[in-house]
Amino acid sequence: MIRKCLFPVAGYGTRFLPATKAMPKEMLPVVNKPLVQYGVEEAISAGLNQIGFVTGRGKRAINDHFDVSYELEHQIAGSEKEKYLSCVREVIQNATFSSTRQPEMKGLGHAILVGELLIGYEPFGVILADDLCLVEEGEDSVMTQLVKIYRRFGKSVVAITEVPREDVSKFGVIAAEEIEPGIYTVSDMVEKPSPEDAPSNLAIIGRYVLTPDIFEALRHTEPGKNGEIQITDALLKLARKGRVLAYKFRGLRFDCGSIEGYVAATNYVYQNIYSKNPK
Ligand code: UTP
Repeated sequence: MIRKCLFPVAGYGTRFLPATKAMPKEMLPVVNKPLVQYGVEEAISAGLNQIGFVTGRGKRAINDHFDVSYELEHQIAGSEKEKYLSCVREVIQNATFSSTRQPEMKGLGHAILVGELLIGYEPFGVILADDLCLVEEGEDSVMTQLVKIYRRFGKSVVAITEVPREDVSKFGVIAAEEIEPGIYTVSDMVEKPSPEDAPSNLAIIGRYVLTPDIFEALRHTEPGKNGEIQITDALLKLARKGRVLAYKFRGLRFDCGSIEGYVAATNYVYQNIYSKNPK
């Protein structure tokens, strides 16, 4: 059973400065909903309703967003405007929220290790909220797809997508053997390789299901690229034991950590989702 989902949200979001000077990047709205809420809704849809945030300084708004705002509730109770709160109320009612702090930005791997306190020794999902993943109405969310693979194989699963060769240096990239359509056993992984050094064009995106042995692997992972503790380096240790699968997910992914991806996501959500069913 997977019940928990970790959200590493401690990053600075420098690419969005000055917007992210006093506001977490994960609170940037795509139309009317903050990025992190899309991620939490995805986790809940996969049955992961114990949400853990690894936060940092200046991230209090995330915790507040998933808490009841008594003043606001009182002010709009019984009025026309109450409907605007219903979608976040639903999320709050369907999940629990806890958080811990990453005192220093030492990388995504380090943030996940800090999250061990919230997870304990059990498999868990990881969502990077700045990767916005959308699926057609009625389809399994990307996290649901990963959880289904985990249930079948009992191994860590990373979501992957094909990217143009010239873009591989933005991602962790895998070498892998396809064992079923869209499902791969990972044999190698490299963080942000140059196009010449990349083992493939299969790039890891911000959705994972991890088995708890990742924590031990992370404890023994030295800082890698950019002096940060990379989740890719720790996963490679498990991959060498045949313990990591990659899954080519069905759906759309927008890199909302970049301005271009964020604008594309906003246009897409407005045209294809919000304008048809504003909520
Ligand atoms: P990014 O590499 O996108 O970094 O982190 P960032 O700091 O958020 O954004 P830029 O590059 O400065 O614009 C990927 C994810 O890992 C989390 C981030 O919050 C983001 O969700 N992260 C990264 C941490 O939680 N802690 C870290 O030390 C590093």
